[in-house]
Amino acid sequence: MPSAIKSGIFKIGGKIPVHRLGFGAMRITGQGVWGPPQDKAEALRTLKALPGLGVDFIDTADAYGPEVSENLLREALYPYPGLLIATKGGLTRPGPGSWTPNGDPKYLVAAAHKSRTRLGVETIALWQLHRIDPKVAAGEQFAAIKSLLDDGVIAHAGLSEVSVAEIQAAQKVFPVATVQNRYNLVDRQSEAVLEYCEKHAIGFIPWFPLAAGDLSKPGGPLDKIAHAHNVSPGAIALAWLLKRSPVMLPIPGTSKVKHLEENVAAAEINLSDEDFNFLDREGRKQN
Ligand SMILES: NC(=O)c1ccc[n+]([C@@H]2O[C@H](COP(=O)([O-])OP(=O)(O)OC[C@H]3O[C@@H](n4cnc5c(N)ncnc54)[C@H](OP(=O)(O)O)[C@@H]3O)[C@@H](O)[C@H]2O)c1
Repeated sequence: MPSAIKSGIFKIGGKIPVHRLGFGAMRITGQGVWGPPQDKAEALRTLKALPGLGVDFIDTADAYGPEVSENLLREALYPYPGLLIATKGGLTRPGPGSWTPNGDPKYLVAAAHKSRTRLGVETIALWQLHRIDPKVAAGEQFAAIKSLLDDGVIAHAGLSEVSVAEIQAAQKVFPVATVQNRYNLVDRQSEAVLEYCEKHAIGFIPWFPLAAGDLSKPGGPLDKIAHAHNVSPGAIALAWLLKRSPVMLPIPGTSKVKHLEENVAAAEINLSDEDFNFLDREGRKQN
C-alpha cells in the first residue's frame, strides 16, 4: 500500500504539520462540481481510505457542491483524528459549472461560520479566500479574514489565485499561511508566486496538479519515466511537483479509490535530477 508519509512534512502557519501530498475534495461532487457525486458509496470509500494512505491534508470549499463536499467529509471522517481539513469561502454558485466571487466582508464571515458548523469543528484549521472579489476593496476582505482569526473561528488563513503583490498586501493585515494557485508541470504562470512562497515559508498548493498535457501521452516523456518506476504518468507529474519545492502541497482530486492509490504512489518516487530537469524543460515548452 503506498503512503503519503514519504512526501515529507510541511507545517501550516509554521505550526500544524501535514504530509505534503494532500487530497482535493472537489471531485467528490456531481458534474460541474454541482450536487451529489454519481457514486456516493465510492466517494465515501475514497475519503475513508485517506488516513490509511497517510494523507492528512484535505482541501475543500463551501462552493464544492455547494456544501456537498464539506458534508461528505463530515460523514466520512468526523471528528477528523490526525487530519487537517482546509476549506475555502468567497465564491458563490449560481449553477453547475458557474462561479461568482462575493467578497462582501459580512458574507465572508458568515460563510466561514457556516463551514465551521457544517464540518462540526470549533475552529477551522485553515480557511482560504477562494477569490479576491474585484468589486470589493481587497483591504475589506482581508480585514474580514483578520476578524475570523481574532475570533478563533479559523486558526490559519490563506488565499487563492493571487499575485505576489496581493499576497504582500494581505500580509500587512494577517499572516498568510497558504496560497492556492493553478500550477502543474505544463502550467507555470505562478512561478514567481511559488518562489515568493518558498522564501516566506508559505505553503503553495498547486491546483489542477495532474494536468500534464501531451507529456503523458503513450510514448511521451512522462509515460516513459512512469514505466521505469511502474507507476501512472500522473504519479510522475505529482513526484515532479513534490521535488520542485519543499513548500509544495499538491492536492490531486479523485472520486475513486483506485485513482487515489495511484496518486499517493507519487510520494514514494525518487525522481533523479536528470529526469526532473528534463521534465522541467519539456513542461516549460508546453506553456
Ligand atoms: N483554488 C481554486 O480555485 C481551485 C480550483 C480548482 C480546484 N481546486 C482544488 O484542487 C484540487 C485538485 O484540482 P482538480 O481536481 O481540478 O485537478 P486534478 O487533481 O489535477 O485532476 C482531477 C481529475 O483527474 C482525475 N484523476 C485523478 N486521479 C486520476 C488517476 N490516477 N487516473 C486518472 N484520472 C485521475 C479525476 O477524475 P476521477 O474522479 O475519475 O479520478 C479528476 O477528473 C480540487 O479537488 C480542489 O480541492 C482549487
